[in-house]
Amino acid sequence: MKNTRRNFLKHVSATGAGLALGVQAQANAAEAKILESKIRVSAVDKVRIGLIGCGIIGHYDTDTALKVEGVELVAVCDLYTGRLERAKEKWGNAIFTTRDYRELLAKKDIDAVLICTPDHWHQKIAIDAMNAGKHVYCEKPMVQKIEEGYALIETQKRTKKVFQVGSQRASSVAIHEAKKVLDSGIIGELTYVEAFCDRTDSKGAWQYSIPTDASPQTIDFDAFLGKAPKVPFDATRFFRWRNYKDYGTGVGGDLFVHLLTGLHTMTNSIGPDKIFSLGEVNYWKDGRDAYDMLNALMSYPKTKDHPAFQFYTRVNLADGEGAGGFGIKLIGTDGVIDIGWNEFKVRTLKRNSAPGYGGYDSFDSFSAKQKEDFKKWYDDKYGKAATGVEMGKETAFMPPKGYDDRLDHMITFFNGIRTGSPILEDATFGLRTAGPSIACNISVEQKKQIGWDPVKMKII
Ligand SMILES: NC(=O)c1ccc[n+]([C@@H]2O[C@H](COP(=O)([O-])OP(=O)(O)OC[C@H]3O[C@@H](n4cnc5c(N)ncnc54)[C@H](O)[C@@H]3O)[C@@H](O)[C@H]2O)c1
Repeated sequence: MKNTRRNFLKHVSATGAGLALGVQAQANAAEAKILESKIRVSAVDKVRIGLIGCGIIGHYDTDTALKVEGVELVAVCDLYTGRLERAKEKWGNAIFTTRDYRELLAKKDIDAVLICTPDHWHQKIAIDAMNAGKHVYCEKPMVQKIEEGYALIETQKRTKKVFQVGSQRASSVAIHEAKKVLDSGIIGELTYVEAFCDRTDSKGAWQYSIPTDASPQTIDFDAFLGKAPKVPFDATRFFRWRNYKDYGTGVGGDLFVHLLTGLHTMTNSIGPDKIFSLGEVNYWKDGRDAYDMLNALMSYPKTKDHPAFQFYTRVNLADGEGAGGFGIKLIGTDGVIDIGWNEFKVRTLKRNSAPGYGGYDSFDSFSAKQKEDFKKWYDDKYGKAATGVEMGKETAFMPPKGYDDRLDHMITFFNGIRTGSPILEDATFGLRTAGPSIACNISVEQKKQIGWDPVKMKII
């Protein structure tokens, strides 16, 4: 390929080159930069996986894992027989299926498991899996309760199994590129971050379809309940478990956790020290006890990696604006990085040293004589220096066509297994994002600010 300026811009990867281009790119904001992921499969020896929890994301995760060269699906576990039938329909009759995950873990021909169950099962299955010698890709949030995290971290350290939490933003090309932009200092000092994940329709609000054959015969409901309080068979609780605090973590653990994963990846942060949250069930009064609206404010103290900043985040599952979506804005003293899912924009601002006068200012209220004296004083002090602020043009960074951050995240996991390459979103990272997200629910329940020790990962 000829190294023309156009090609260079097209392929400007998340590099210093991208930033060196900053000034030039601002002069040509129409030209979006296409990002290029640096994540590559580093070895192709066979890795045999088992899926535990073959619901919505179990399919996404497994299909994505199977795109990684050398990965084979051996077994599937689920509590609803319809999902085991679907697994055989889709991945072939040869796969082993079971309703008891312990049978899957006992299989010697499985190297790694994907844990895609509801949140209240993550910790127990992850610990059992590592103790059984399996590497673990565990969906977010890593734990349902903060205190569950310590045993999980301990098990990972003791067994030395590869463990990765499944918030794919930790491997997203956009997040890694945005980190470089932030590190370059182009937006000045980070002072404030705001993030949201809003939804509008019933599926977005977790009213998922319930199959007509759901019954105590087709579903092992007792196994589903696990450590949760015993209740009679209830298909709604089984298929829409997110809406109940007994099984899920609410929008905090479910969705804030993605926002915090992106934030911590970009800033190298270990977390906030103060968390305050407001939550309620506003609209989806369908029997749920998990909030459909949650707002949280957190303070991130200064560390060696970032200045002190405030973080505001929100989930509204009944967003009447209809826009929905997902976003995180890093606002610095000299600009903003505005991130969607896998794309972002950078805008800078220059604050000139001369303040200017007039307009919405006290100048007009001065007497005629004072106006004359003031003008003379101003001209002596600032001369013809530029005044006020100047906005830089916007630079857009777009993912390559068809880009899938989940695939990059899977490749990171399998590279870790095959070559021992580092896992950023390990169990400690996972508790540092799940902990503050879950603490939002605690703040709502206790109607007070929660103190969080980001080093020890404990409520204080
Ligand atoms: N990373 C992401 O983008 C992403 C997206 C959606 C969901 N998730 C996470 O994935 C997890 C699953 O979410 P989902 O939407 O797929 O839920 P789901 O209800 O569609 O699927 C969960 C499946 O787990 C099975 N299950 C429950 N308990 C089990 C047990 N003890 N043993 C074996 N199987 C069990 C259920 O039968 C069900 O089929 C959640 O923790 C969620 O937060 C992650």
